[in-house]
Amino acid sequence: MSLSAFTLFLALIGGTSGQYYDYDFPLSIYGQSSPNCAPECNCPESYPSAMYCDELKLKSVPMVPPGIKYLYLRNNQIDHIDEKAFENVTDLQWLILDHNLLENSKIKGRVFSKLKQLKKLHINHNNLTESVGPLPKSLEDLQLTHNKITKLGSFEGLVNLTFIHLQHNRLKEDAVSAAFKEFDIKSFCKILGPLSYSKIKHLRLDGNRISETSLPPDMYECLRVANEVTLN
Ligand SMILES: *[C@@H]1O[C@H](CO)[C@@H](O)[C@H](O)[C@H]1NC(C)=O
Ligand SMILES: *[C@@H]1O[C@H](CO)[C@@H](O)[C@H](O)[C@H]1NC(C)=O
Ligand SMILES: *[C@@H]1O[C@H](CO)[C@@H](O)[C@H](O)[C@H]1NC(C)=O
Repeated sequence: MSLSAFTLFLALIGGTSGQYYDYDFPLSIYGQSSPNCAPECNCPESYPSAMYCDELKLKSVPMVPPGIKYLYLRNNQIDHIDEKAFENVTDLQWLILDHNLLENSKIKGRVFSKLKQLKKLHINHNNLTESVGPLPKSLEDLQLTHNKITKLGSFEGLVNLTFIHLQHNRLKEDAVSAAFKEFDIKSFCKILGPLSYSKIKHLRLDGNRISETSLPPDMYECLRVANEVTLN
C-alpha cells in the first residue's frame, strides 16, 4: 500500500467513526501482524514502528498499538496520563510529549518505570512542577525544559542517563544541590575512580534560579566527560 492509500485508509476509518476521538473500532479492522496505527495518528509505512500524533488537539494519549517503539505526541492538549496508557507498548523506546499541559499529579502510577526499554523521555513545555518518576533504568535522554519544576527526584541507578536537559524551570540552589548531592555521591561520581567517571554528557540547568557557587565544587571533575554543562 502506498503512503497516500494508507492515509486515505485512515481517513476512511476516521470517517466511519464520525469523529477522530472514538477508539471503539475492533482492532481486527487494521489486520493483526503489522502495527495498527491509532486512527487519528500516522504510522508511516517506511517507519512502521513510529506513531506520529502531533498537533491533533488530543486531550489524552490515544490507543498505542503493539509494535510502536517511537511515539510522538507533540503540540497537543494532553493533561493527564493514565496508568494503562502504554500497557500494550511496554517496549516503547522514545516518548515525546513536548508542548502539552501535563501536571505531575495527573501522571498516574508508575507509568514510565514500566517501560523497560525507554531511552528518550521528552516532556518539554508542559506544566510540571517536579521531575517525573520513577524512571526506567534504560533511560538515556531526559528533557524537561520549560516547565515550572522546583523539585528534582532521584536519578539514582539510571546508569545510562547521559543527557539531561532541565533548563528554563524554577530550580533553586537548594533543590539542585540536594539533587546534585544524590548525583554526586550516588550517581554522578558513583563509579569515580582513577579511570571511571560519570557518564553524563550533557547537563543543562540554565534558565533556573541557581548560582554556580551552590553546586558541589568537584562537580566538573565528576562530570569530566561532559561536553556540555551549562548553568547560566
Ligand atoms: C491494549 O490492547 C487491548 C487488547 O487489544 C485493548 O483492549 C486495550 O484497549 C489496549 N490498551 C490501550 C491503552 O491502548
Ligand atoms: C498550564 O499551562 C497553561 C498554558 O501555559 C496555563 O494556561 C495553565 O494555567 C497551566 N495550568 C497550571 C495548573 O499551571
Ligand atoms: C545501558 O546501556 C548498555 C549499552 O547500550 C546496555 O547494554 C545496558 O543494558 C543498558 N543498561 C540498562 C539498565 O538499560
